[in-house]
Amino acid sequence: MKFISHSVEETEELAFKIAKNITPPQVICLIGNLGAGKTAFTRGFARYFGVNKGVASPTFTILMKYSGDVEINHYDLYRAEDYDELCDIGFEDQIDEGISLIEWPDKFLTLLPEDKIIIRINYTENEGEREITVEGMVADLL
Ligand SMILES: Nc1ncnc2c1ncn2[C@@H]1O[C@H](COP(=O)(O)OP(=O)(O)OP(=O)(O)O)[C@@H](O)[C@H]1O
Ligand SMILES: [Mg+2]
Repeated sequence: MKFISHSVEETEELAFKIAKNITPPQVICLIGNLGAGKTAFTRGFARYFGVNKGVASPTFTILMKYSGDVEINHYDLYRAEDYDELCDIGFEDQIDEGISLIEWPDKFLTLLPEDKIIIRINYTENEGEREITVEGMVADLL
């Protein structure tokens, strides 16, 4: 399923709509270049579950936990080197619980559950525009 977003707000709104169709446990991979909008997507998504502030991706923090209506684990694996490092922060156990949104999952895709949702966010030639592709079960519901 493919969408075009024309603004950060539209990306957040799409994420909010997707969130309506999701119940824990669920892993959501966010794939896209620097500044594509992975954190913006996470912000809109988390808002559906009542998280209204604090969604960011600080440079050296691998895991941010938000307490909303469900447990939301937001990972930024840009600087994560290996699986041991992830296990140190409880990745292995947390992945089966709550909702995990994972920025930069690329190196770890094979370690993630089969039924994960993959969101790809790509720049287009137009400023402020993104192409967002949704793969996985939820794509049929949108
Ligand atoms: N259509 C759009 N959707 C999302 N973000 C957009 C869009 N157009 C412009 N932007 C801008 O792109 C930036 C996206 O930043 P964001 O932090 O969400 O990216 P990211 O993919 O998480 O980057 P990083 O890999 O550095 O964590 C913001 O500055 C936002 O305003
Ligand atoms: Mg980010």
